[in-house]
Amino acid sequence: MAEDAVTASWAHGACAWSILVHGGAGDVSAEHLPRHVEGCERAAAAGAAVLAAGGSALDAVQRAVEVLEDDASFNAGTGACLNEDGAIELDASIMDGTTLQAGGVCALAPFKNPIAIARRVMDASSHVLLAGEGAARFALEQGFVRADPSSMITDLARARLAAAQAKQTTEGWAGGTVGAVARDASGRVAAATSTGGMVNKRAGRVGDSPIVGAGTYADDATAACSTTGHGEAMIRVCLAKTASDAARTDGAEHAARASLAMMHARTSGTGGVILAARDGSLGLARTTRTMSWAAATDTGRASGA
Ligand code: GLY
Repeated sequence: MAEDAVTASWAHGACAWSILVHGGAGDVSAEHLPRHVEGCERAAAAGAAVLAAGGSALDAVQRAVEVLEDDASFNAGTGACLNEDGAIELDASIMDGTTLQAGGVCALAPFKNPIAIARRVMDASSHVLLAGEGAARFALEQGFVRADPSSMITDLARARLAAAQAKQTTEGWAGGTVGAVARDASGRVAAATSTGGMVNKRAGRVGDSPIVGAGTYADDATAACSTTGHGEAMIRVCLAKTASDAARTDGAEHAARASLAMMHARTSGTGGVILAARDGSLGLARTTRTMSWAAATDTGRASGA
């Protein structure tokens, strides 16, 4: 229930830069949770290295999400869940809070790092969101290499699809979407999100993660946000934009909690939200049993689930 949301926050105005990453809202077993937290710690460290060297929030969130996409523990990039045909279809988006420029890809065939293609959509096209074969064609034109699907499909993803198709588990949502939000030393915020979506989803199904305002949002005037959970619910309430707007006055932690409560009240959807507010403070909330995360600032590190 949203009223039972677990929340946390750091870095209230005292840091030069900050980054927070998540490894997806869901129900990860106690056995696997340490690996998820460690994956988030590695991703936050990679983003922190960008920020500590004076890099932008935009580059930091892209780098952090690439690390999570390369980690087969998560439902993004390598290890992404499978659709009803046993195929990977990837969704990702990235947004710059200074310019409000954004890029996304959806229902994309296997490529190792869809977040890098989303960034290229933002930087090298006049569009915000490219889908399916058109997105793949754009990626190839830009020099990205189509991956051999077998190099990205894990035994766990196959087992989850088999279980869902045998109705041994709740059909659908896999959890494990990944995302990052950051504020750099110049006060710019950015957000990025990447996912394989839902286990056994219909071919062509697109969730919230590639949609600006639902899965990802960033505005220097408010906050950067990445969401995870029931994509259909998140699209309906424009969760990332809602949470970012609320952070302007309510603070990151309260905004994360309140936006999830609103989504649950209106749609019954559950999930998680991470926010980096314009003052650099970080906040998260989840209404699922688990959501691995890691935070880093110029003054410290933290992680959990
Ligand atoms: N939140 C990820 C998805 O529903 O696709």
